[in-house]
Amino acid sequence: MMNETVREKRLIKYMGSKRTLIPVLTQLVASSGAKSALDLFTGTTRVARAIKSLGIETTASDSASYSEVFAKTWIELDGSAVKPRELDRAIAKLNALPGQHGYFTENFCLKARYFQPENGERIDAMREHIESNYRDSWLYYPLLTSLIMAADRVDSTTGVQMAFLKSWSPRSHKSLELKDPDLVSGIGHAARGDATELVKTFPSVDLAYLDPPYNQHRYFGNYHVWESLVRWDKPETYGIANKRIDNRSAEHKSAFNSRATMPAALSKLVTDLKCETLILSYNNESWLSRDQLIEIASARGHVEVLDIEFKRYVGSQIGVYNKAGEKVGSPAHRNNIEHIVIAGQKQIVQRMVAQLDG
Ligand SMILES: C[S@@+](CC[C@H](N)C(=O)[O-])C[C@H]1O[C@@H](n2cnc3c(N)ncnc32)[C@H](O)[C@@H]1O
Repeated sequence: MMNETVREKRLIKYMGSKRTLIPVLTQLVASSGAKSALDLFTGTTRVARAIKSLGIETTASDSASYSEVFAKTWIELDGSAVKPRELDRAIAKLNALPGQHGYFTENFCLKARYFQPENGERIDAMREHIESNYRDSWLYYPLLTSLIMAADRVDSTTGVQMAFLKSWSPRSHKSLELKDPDLVSGIGHAARGDATELVKTFPSVDLAYLDPPYNQHRYFGNYHVWESLVRWDKPETYGIANKRIDNRSAEHKSAFNSRATMPAALSKLVTDLKCETLILSYNNESWLSRDQLIEIASARGHVEVLDIEFKRYVGSQIGVYNKAGEKVGSPAHRNNIEHIVIAGQKQIVQRMVAQLDG
């Protein structure tokens, strides 16, 4: 068992983010010899960014709209082919805009209290400005990314948007400030859609990375504020958390969020992938046992498993909250084990594991 302690820069607070696993995953991918890669549940794009940084042509996809924005920013854009000063200037302009009461302030600062109203008004003004002035510019996605990251740094949640804190978080008193999102050089592609459908459309790659959800909590509902900020479609909302009305629709359900459908969906996905080597992350608190994971992955050849112990997701360290944001319990334990399952040609898989440090 390995114990991960290395700290990576935070992008946004995200359930299941693989921030702490990046050093191990990077070493594994580097020793696979891959020249092309696919990350089908890319989330923050944390892993895809690391893969792209190795000089590997990387495709990142996810069903979430905000994740597509991240993938357009960090994976599809070649950081070495753009003019960073244009981005700096646009960020400075947005930071200087006066606030303006709008949809965001009304729904996420007054009806629900995810952000302080002064920050919410500035988010409203910036978001309108981005839509009116940068829709057709290469700056559009980096600016949206920068806005989400800035908003995340001043939120008043435990890291998910199904509740806000009863009293304002200390960070929510800080003034919103957009920063350079730190683009990545190299070649990449971004897509949005259901992994089970998209997998059929992507060309074959040397390496695929799968990091599906591992419980019933749906990302669409847990990060509805980012969905609405990106889509800017200003939908009707409901409940104390003020979620988007379409959160209730079947369209946003994932086969990976249900114990009944998840095993078959993962099994089919693993079979449908067109890749030489597969890396799959999965969590010991989830529905599939280590043996079941091995069985599913063995459809792709030889299998090795690494078990990595690391601290639980930040929200679960803080406590368990009800919908009104009141603390109702403490997390059962603080460490969990992430299984990294590697499958493919025996020689490649064994080399990847053998070349790991420590
Ligand atoms: C465990 S998270 C991935 C975290 C990511 N590796 C990171 O480090 O940020 C799972 C992701 O799967 C996405 N997702 C859920 N169901 C999906 C589906 N059916 N197809 C594509 N993406 C899906 C969620 O939006 C979420 O971003």
